[in-house]
Amino acid sequence: MNRSFRRFLLYSARKVGRHRALLFTLMMFSMSVGLFLSILAALSLSFGRPQANRLAVHLTAGDATPVGAEAYARGWVGFPALHSRVNCSQALTDPKRNFMYPQAVPRVTLKDILAQCRNSCKTFAENNGFNRHPKVTKEELHFPIAFIILFHKDLDQVLFLLRAIYRPHNVYCLSVDLSATQELIEATLAVSGCLQNVFVASKLENIVYAGFSRLMADVHCMADLFSHRVKWNYVINMPGQQFPLKSNLEMVRILKLYNGANDVLGDIRSRYVPRRYLFKHHVMIGRNASAPTVAESVHLNPPPPHGFRIVKGSAYNTLSRAFVKMVLRHQWVKDLISWSRDVESPDEYFWATLNHASEVVVPGSFVGVPENKPWITSYTAWQGLAKCASKFVRWICIFSPGDLPNLVSQVHLFANKFYIDHHPAALHCLDQYIYNLTVSGTVRGLEYYRALPFLVPYDNFDE
Ligand SMILES: *[C@@H]1O[C@H](CO)[C@@H](O)[C@H](O)[C@H]1NC(C)=O
Ligand SMILES: *[C@@H]1O[C@H](CO)[C@@H](O)[C@H](O)[C@H]1NC(C)=O
Ligand SMILES: *[C@@H]1O[C@H](CO)[C@@H](O)[C@H](O)[C@H]1NC(C)=O
Repeated sequence: MNRSFRRFLLYSARKVGRHRALLFTLMMFSMSVGLFLSILAALSLSFGRPQANRLAVHLTAGDATPVGAEAYARGWVGFPALHSRVNCSQALTDPKRNFMYPQAVPRVTLKDILAQCRNSCKTFAENNGFNRHPKVTKEELHFPIAFIILFHKDLDQVLFLLRAIYRPHNVYCLSVDLSATQELIEATLAVSGCLQNVFVASKLENIVYAGFSRLMADVHCMADLFSHRVKWNYVINMPGQQFPLKSNLEMVRILKLYNGANDVLGDIRSRYVPRRYLFKHHVMIGRNASAPTVAESVHLNPPPPHGFRIVKGSAYNTLSRAFVKMVLRHQWVKDLISWSRDVESPDEYFWATLNHASEVVVPGSFVGVPENKPWITSYTAWQGLAKCASKFVRWICIFSPGDLPNLVSQVHLFANKFYIDHHPAALHCLDQYIYNLTVSGTVRGLEYYRALPFLVPYDNFDE
C-alpha cells in the first residue's frame, strides 16, 4: 500500500514484540461417547488494547435433529467434494496439517448458478443447500439482523458465505461491483430472485479501491435495508471473503448484550494517516483498461465540516438501526459524507469518525478513547501482529486449515479473509463447525461480551 502504512506496521510489530506475553494452554476433554469434544484454549496476546480474549472451543455433533443428518447426507454442509477427504474434528484442533488437505475444490460456475435459478428456485435451493437450517428459534425471529455483502468475483464463495448466515427472517443486501462481469451481475440478480429477503442494492457502484464509491456501496445498501419490511436491529457489512465465527443464535445473544451500542473500530494513534484526508484525492482512470485508482493531489482538502474530529477505523462494522437512521437523515452526517468524497479510503474514516464523535449525539456511539475499546466485528490476522498458517496477501493472512484452532477460539463475529481457491478445507470445516452449533443450538460463553466496555457509559479515559 503506502509508506505510512508500512511504517505503522513496523511500529506496531516493535510494540507487540515488547508486549508479547504469550500463554497457550490447551486442554482436551474427550467425553465417553466420543461425540463431544471440547477444547479450552487460552491465549493472551496483548497489543496495548483491552485483552483480546479467547473463547472455549466446542465441537458438537450436527445430527441432533433430522435436519442436521439430512443436510450432511445431501452434501449441504461444507464442500461435498471434500467430505471424505478432510477430517474436520482433526483440522479444527490440530494446526499442523495443512499439507494433508486438498488444495482445491470444483468451482460452481456462473453458468451453473444461472441455469439452476432459471430452472426453478427450488432447484437452486436444493443444489446449494439454502434450506439446510433448522427452524428459526423464537429468540432469533424477534431479533432480525441485516447483512451487507460486497463483492466483485467468486460468486460461488459468496454463496457459501451467504448460506452460512442465511435465515429467511433476516435480510441481506448484495452489493455487486459494477466493474464485475455482466454474467456475474446477472447471476447475482437471479440468486436474489430465489431467496426470501435477499436483494441486490438498488444503486450499485463502480468500485474503485480506496475510493468514495466503496463507502457509498454500503450507504446505498443501508438506505435500502432501512426501508425494508424486516425491522432489523443491527446491520453488519462484509466483503465476500469473510466467513462467520458465530452461529446466528450466538450473534443474536451477543448483539442483545450490545443493547444499542455500535461496534466500530477506532484509532487516533498508530493507524492515523492524515495525508489521506488532509489532501484531496481523485480517481485516475486506468490506462489500458486497467483498474482506476485513487491518487493524491497537491491540493489541500478543507477541514472536516462541523468540527468533526477524524478517527481512523475499518470499513467493516456492526451498527445499530438508530445509528443507520442518523447516517441517512442527519444533515451533519450528510455533510461529512460529502466531505469524504476526496478522502483516500473514506470508508476507513467515516464510520469511525461518526461513532466517536462528540460534536453531535450519535446513537450507540463510544465517547471514551477509541483505542480502549475492543473491536469484534471481524478478525484479521495482520502480518507482523499475528500468526498465519499459510500466506499473507497485502499484510492480511489468507486463512487455511492450520488457522482453524486459532479462528474458532476468537471472540469476533466474522473472520477476514478466505480464498475459495486457497486451502478451501478451511471454509469447509468452519462451515461444518458453525452449522453444527446451529443444529445443536449451542451458545458458547458470553462472559467476554458481558464485560465489553462499550456496553455501558465509559468514563475511564486512562488505559
Ligand atoms: C458435525 O456433525 C457431523 C454429524 O454429526 C459430524 O459428522 C461432524 O464431525 C461434525 N463436525 C464438526 C466440525 O463438529
Ligand atoms: C478424525 O480425527 C479425530 C481426532 O484426531 C479422530 O479421533 C477420529 O478417529 C478421526 N475420524 C476419522 C473418520 O478418521
Ligand atoms: C497497453 O496496451 C497495449 C495494447 O494492448 C500494449 O501493447 C501495451 O503493452 C499496454 N501498456 C501497458 C503499460 O500495459
